[in-house]
Amino acid sequence: MGVVGPGGGSGVTTLAVSLGLAVAGAGRSVALVDADPRLGMVAAQMGLVEDRSLFHLVHEATLRPVDQAALERSLQSHRGLAVLAGRGEPGGPVGSLLPGLEVVLGLLADRYSLVLVDIGPLHSEAAAAIAFRCQALVWVVDGSPLGADRLDRCLSSSFGRPLRSKPQMVIVNRAGLGLPTRAREWLAREYGLSLLGLVPFDLAAVRSAEERLLPPVLGGALASPLRRAATRMLEVLDGEDTPRHRSGALPSTLRPESSSA
Ligand SMILES: Nc1ncnc2c1ncn2[C@@H]1O[C@H](COP(=O)(O)OP(=O)(O)O)[C@@H](O)[C@H]1O
Ligand SMILES: [Mg+2]
Repeated sequence: MGVVGPGGGSGVTTLAVSLGLAVAGAGRSVALVDADPRLGMVAAQMGLVEDRSLFHLVHEATLRPVDQAALERSLQSHRGLAVLAGRGEPGGPVGSLLPGLEVVLGLLADRYSLVLVDIGPLHSEAAAAIAFRCQALVWVVDGSPLGADRLDRCLSSSFGRPLRSKPQMVIVNRAGLGLPTRAREWLAREYGLSLLGLVPFDLAAVRSAEERLLPPVLGGALASPLRRAATRMLEVLDGEDTPRHRSGALPSTLRPESSSA
């Protein structure tokens, strides 16, 4: 499951971390990979180390086959969520990332019933290729009047068009900043996006979370809306909800192990 934004700073990392922790808190087996090719912020938001990362693993994969043991050494556990950190500094070539990432995602998919991938903004060919590798996408859209417009432009672009056949969901972040209801409804109609929830704009809650290195899903005013969005995502994954996307039910491989339905 890729978590992706139509632009930078829409809250992809905040949401990816929150969805991961909420799903782990519900007792599901879940891993979160920071694959933002531009700048990985998952470890920073969670207070984890960055020297065991996807980028180290991908480099290792060019030297020798990466197996579950190598993956195990790179994963960090945070409240039941397995985390593979990303690259902490911006820039650098990412072309060599993809074959190694393919291997790492395959190994993670063998072990976890849900693998969340923080892709960041869909600004580059590398991000588009990583998104294309995912089976389904959660878009994090800024709740400003232009948030829906930004997603529309992104899904109409050469990066976004190939992704339109995938099951897609959307979370409106910083809601309350004016993304009109009709724009949200239009996005659902036009692109078949399932709306997972609205997360209010709350600077105090995210500041406090960042100062305490305690992601906002774990406490404060944003915890409830973030948990609700995660619950709704699981409902869609479990098929308890009729997804409004065009391509039918999610593949069974995405369904958490604990759901027997
Ligand atoms: N709901 C929100 N209300 C207020 N600030 C937010 C909210 N969501 C995210 N932010 C802040 O916006 C900034 C960018 O968020 P981040 O998750 O890093 O975005 P991205 O990964 O898309 O670049 C961070 O400082 C974060 O704390
Ligand atoms: Mg980010």
